[in-house]
Amino acid sequence: MKELIAPTTRLHTAWLEAHAEWGPGQHEDGFGLHPSDEVNSPAGFAAWVARLLGQSDPAKPLDAGKGRCTYRWIVESNRVLGGIALRHGSSDYVLWAGHIGYGIRPSARRRGLATWALGRMLDEARTLGLDRVLAAARSTMPPR
Ligand SMILES: CC(C)(COP(=O)(O)OP(=O)(O)OC[C@H]1O[C@@H](n2cnc3c(N)ncnc32)[C@H](O)[C@@H]1OP(=O)(O)O)[C@@H](O)C(=O)NCCC(=O)NCCS
Repeated sequence: MKELIAPTTRLHTAWLEAHAEWGPGQHEDGFGLHPSDEVNSPAGFAAWVARLLGQSDPAKPLDAGKGRCTYRWIVESNRVLGGIALRHGSSDYVLWAGHIGYGIRPSARRRGLATWALGRMLDEARTLGLDRVLAAARSTMPPR
């Protein structure tokens, strides 16, 4: 059964397996992964997961330059199939990138997973009080 779950260190090995499938240099939309994130070691992965969880927790202070964002992984039978991010607020970046970004690993595409995850994230958006959600299709880099 597929689930939408918060990022977790429990799935380090499974996440790395999905990451390898995307291949080097590919931007994995929806995961909040930066080129500088070191995710191979348990400590590096734990630091990255902690950043993602902290970014979504209104009780935690935000790092400079970061906006609030809810990250979820699409998981089935302990396999990581994709990621989806719900950016909160309406900063210039959100208005450029949209509230929602998602990515499905290549072998799991065209099964309706992105459509399903989008529906679930819209429920989360309603809970946050968002009555309109912007989705954007962009082929350019964000404004600096
Ligand atoms: C875009 C992406 C998220 C779609 O994920 P997915 O789980 O395959 O999407 P779904 O199965 O829910 O497809 C929904 C519909 O989108 C359209 N679609 C999806 N992939 C498509 C493709 N490669 N070409 C044309 N239409 C496509 C189709 O209409 C599809 O419905 P259909 O399969 O009944 O024809 C996935 O291809 C991906 O991760 N791409 C790379 C990252 C990206 O572009 N993210 C979006 C920007 S943030």
